Amino acid sequence: MAAAAASPRVHEAFDGKVLLLTGGSGFVGKALLEKLLRTCPGVRRVYVLLRPGRTGASPEERLRTMLTEPLFDGLRAAGHGDRLSRLVAVAGDCAAPGLSLAEDDRRRLQEEVQVFIHTAASVRFDDPLQRAVLLNTRGAREAADLASGMRSLEVMVHVSTTYCNTHEAVIEERVYPMPPETRDDWREIIRLAETLDEKALESRVSRGYQPNTYTFSKALAEQVMQDHSELFNVAVFRPAIVIGAHNEPMPGWTNNLNGPFALCVGITKGLVHTTLADRDAVIDMVPLEMVVNGIILAAREGILRWSAGETAGLRVYNCSAAGRKTLSVYDSITCALKSNELAPHDRVLWHPFVVMSSSVTVFTLLSVLFHFLPALFVDAGLRLAGRRPWLLRTYWKIYKATVSLRYFSLTHWVFENKRFYALLDSVGEEDAAAFKLDLSHLDEGEYVHTHMQFLRRYILKENMDPKAARRNQTIMFVLDRCTRAVLFGIVLTVVFRLLCALIL
Ligand SMILES: NC(=O)c1ccc[n+]([C@@H]2O[C@H](COP(=O)([O-])OP(=O)(O)OC[C@H]3O[C@@H](n4cnc5c(N)ncnc54)[C@H](OP(=O)(O)O)[C@@H]3O)[C@@H](O)[C@H]2O)c1
Repeated sequence: MAAAAASPRVHEAFDGKVLLLTGGSGFVGKALLEKLLRTCPGVRRVYVLLRPGRTGASPEERLRTMLTEPLFDGLRAAGHGDRLSRLVAVAGDCAAPGLSLAEDDRRRLQEEVQVFIHTAASVRFDDPLQRAVLLNTRGAREAADLASGMRSLEVMVHVSTTYCNTHEAVIEERVYPMPPETRDDWREIIRLAETLDEKALESRVSRGYQPNTYTFSKALAEQVMQDHSELFNVAVFRPAIVIGAHNEPMPGWTNNLNGPFALCVGITKGLVHTTLADRDAVIDMVPLEMVVNGIILAAREGILRWSAGETAGLRVYNCSAAGRKTLSVYDSITCALKSNELAPHDRVLWHPFVVMSSSVTVFTLLSVLFHFLPALFVDAGLRLAGRRPWLLRTYWKIYKATVSLRYFSLTHWVFENKRFYALLDSVGEEDAAAFKLDLSHLDEGEYVHTHMQFLRRYILKENMDPKAARRNQTIMFVLDRCTRAVLFGIVLTVVFRLLCALIL
């Protein structure tokens, strides 16, 4: 673990450095910017590549707005607000040729940047193949091409995912060759994505060994990085499933409602009453700061290698909690239900309860019983009241998503992570505490509660009045119990009548 106290401090590696970050407006990217500015005061400048906003905001406006978010309040409160001026927006689009960079921006970046962190990607599992390849794979190639022209690049960190080699049971910290059935290499697949339409592309490219277009396009991106690593230092950084922050940048922080905690919210809001989960399947979930700290330490390792004369080569880091303290989906749901007892949602659809099963058949039967049948009645009621029915459609979406994710929720992989944890080997005690990489300090119940509270306050924008919530909770509890009693009574009556008819 921590080496001698005389180890060089982490921030020293970044003194005077100019960084380029893609994906700086994303979940990981925002937290990374905050931590870099907070803990590495010597960073000279960070160029943040941003595309224009959907409502037409320019990259500069987007950056300005982003910096007013509460996540940067800690930095301001500590008197470091001036460091925010070191962030400089650069207009670009990772899905476009040349990243859509203006010629003078490209020149400036290639002149100044020493550390390039590429996190931009589409993380949707259901993107069309063409979209996924053009952003996640060609975007990586365009980023690597930009890096190749950087005069003083010390390291490029490419953020990948532990789930891009799930055809293997044990995933080592190395780039895997594409299996022979893929036929084409990344160059050809990019060319095909640029020239064929979606249908023709899907029928031409063999990607059956991958569960979805996201993992396929990210696996190809690793190949891109491998093939550029003769030119400069590359760190391929693979997080597992990233969940909200434990403490940094704020306790419970996130900017989205995705992944396992979307399920927890669905359950505690009384919408979801059954799901596919296996008590023994450990899904590798890593809190945000573990990822952010790991990216900074991987970049630092690249900088140190470069300083030692190693100017090219590739290292892979599996940012995974495997073999250490982990948090399973099963535990998260249990803790979320407990958290909801302590501080319930202000409004719920029904009294929260959930039945979990690892069998798709059982899950399907339970979905009919707990989701589809009640939804039929609710939607009919909505129709009669002249309102738009929505519940059946929502449950169908939840059912399809749950079944399609079963590959991830019920399969167990071993992610080797020695090199990831070794990132702390050359770090002194003080920095080992500031750049923690494992969950040994984490109390599951407290973590889930804090995160659920954050989701309620900032993402669901709930009224946090506990009195109103308790009243609503009591009403739903009574309704739930009355419904159960009536249903039980109906079943008993039917059974009794059937028995009478048979016997008498
Ligand atoms: N979240 C996870 O659980 C997880 C797990 C493993 C690996 N990862 C990897 O971690 C990285 C970051 O993921 P995340 O969770 O932070 O994703 P995210 O919140 O969806 O952020 C994606 C970022 O990419 C940017 N981006 C998307 N398309 C772009 C384009 N055409 N041009 C420029 N920028 C574009 C987005 O910018 P806009 O604001 O303009 O949309 C945003 O900043 C990804 O590489 C992902 O594969 C994530």
